[in-house]
Amino acid sequence: MKNHHLFSALALLGCLFLLPYCSATRGGNAQPAISYEKDLLPIMELSCTPCHFPDRGRKKLLNTAEATRESLDDIIRRIELPADAKDYMPFKSKRPALTAEEIDLFKQWAATGMTD
Ligand code: HEC
Repeated sequence: MKNHHLFSALALLGCLFLLPYCSATRGGNAQPAISYEKDLLPIMELSCTPCHFPDRGRKKLLNTAEATRESLDDIIRRIELPADAKDYMPFKSKRPALTAEEIDLFKQWAATGMTD
C-alpha cells in the first residue's frame, strides 16, 4: 500500500515536470502566445509615434491594447498596403516600415485572443 502511494506521488511529480515541456512543444512548432505589451507595443513605439501616441499624437491614439484591438482590422489593412498607397501606415513612410514578420505578429494576435 505504501509503495503504491509512493508510485502515485512520483507519477504526479513526473507529470508536473513534463507538463510545461509538453505544452511548449505541442504541435511541433507552436509559438508562445502573442501579447500586446511584449510583442506589439515595441513595434508601435518605433513606427507609430509620435502621431498615434501621447503627448504629441494628433491622430487617433493607439497606445493601449484596447485601442489597438478596436482598430486592428484597419491597422492590419494599412500596414499591409504598398508604401505608396494613400492609406499606408506609417504615414508617408515617416517612420520605419513594418517587416513581414512584424505584420504577422498583428495577425497572430488577432487569431489568438488579443491579450494585453
Ligand atoms: C507621421 C505620422 C504618422 C505615423 C508615424 C503613423 N500614422 Fe497612422 N495616421 C496618420 C494620419 C495623418 C492619419 C489620418 C489619415 C488617414 O486616415 O490616412 C492616420 C490614420 C491612421 C489610422 C486610422 C485612424 C482613424 O481615425 O480611424 C490608423 C488605424 C493608423 N493611422 C494606424 C497607424 C499605425 C498602426 C501606425 C504605425 C505602424 C501609424 N498609423 C503610423 C499619421 C501617422
